[in-house]
Amino acid sequence: MSDGPHSHSRHGHVHDHDHDHKHQEEHDFAAANAKYFDENVHKFEQHPFAKELASRQLTAYLGAYPFDEEKTVMMDFACGIGMVSRELAPYTKQIVGIDISQGLVDEFNLRVNNQGLTPDEMKAVCVHLKGVEGELDNLKFDVIICGMAYHHIQDIAGTTQTLAFFLKPGGVLLVNDMLDVDDITDNFKDLKKQADFEHVVAHKHGFDEPTIRKVFEDAGLVKFELNIIAKAKYHKFPTKIFIAKGTKPEA
Ligand SMILES: C[S@@+](CC[C@H](N)C(=O)[O-])C[C@H]1O[C@@H](n2cnc3c(N)ncnc32)[C@H](O)[C@@H]1O
Repeated sequence: MSDGPHSHSRHGHVHDHDHDHKHQEEHDFAAANAKYFDENVHKFEQHPFAKELASRQLTAYLGAYPFDEEKTVMMDFACGIGMVSRELAPYTKQIVGIDISQGLVDEFNLRVNNQGLTPDEMKAVCVHLKGVEGELDNLKFDVIICGMAYHHIQDIAGTTQTLAFFLKPGGVLLVNDMLDVDDITDNFKDLKKQADFEHVVAHKHGFDEPTIRKVFEDAGLVKFELNIIAKAKYHKFPTKIFIAKGTKPEA
């Protein structure tokens, strides 16, 4: 387990961001996330704000994209157990969830099956997408959503490019996450989970708008917009949750 910023100060060291940055480059956040979420599948819905957040996300997504149950093919990237996908199912023709945790993907598919939906309508796949021809049987998407996951992903520029690759021309990427927060991992100290959690959070302060705008624009997405969808306590600290939108240009 890594030494966090708190152990640095405990030992009287000056906090060294370069060291942290180097350390973060060496750390495999994707592998750590897959392990962490595999081991915590059943904690997913326990957060008191989880249901409220899923409902805010639903409202934001429906406001940001004209979902059509006859036509809309959607990817839910970093889908978890599908809390948001299941809410969007009545508004879409097909949903493919993507996650790197097999445990979450299995839970997603179990719940889809329990709900009486077929895999053609909705399924999750455990895969590290690269954004190359042939993946996902060359399926392309009208809309891709990604909720509360960018802070877990170290290379958000690369991920955004990959997601842009999977959009149809004119397709829309919708990302929501936290805007400029205090150190997220601080909130886990008293739960004795801080080191555990720190290991899976690549962006401990959330994001500012210019950072998100840049990764969207560098991925070739246009008509960038960012709006606040909730002011809330997420993991016990006040935060603003944003939704960012970008469109893949028509060919
Ligand atoms: C806080 S959960 C959010 C899940 C879901 N989007 C939701 O809103 O309920 C973060 C998710 O990101 C996934 N994740 C973390 N790193 C990832 C990566 N590099 N690629 C894909 N998924 C990742 C985790 O497995 C987990 O399902």
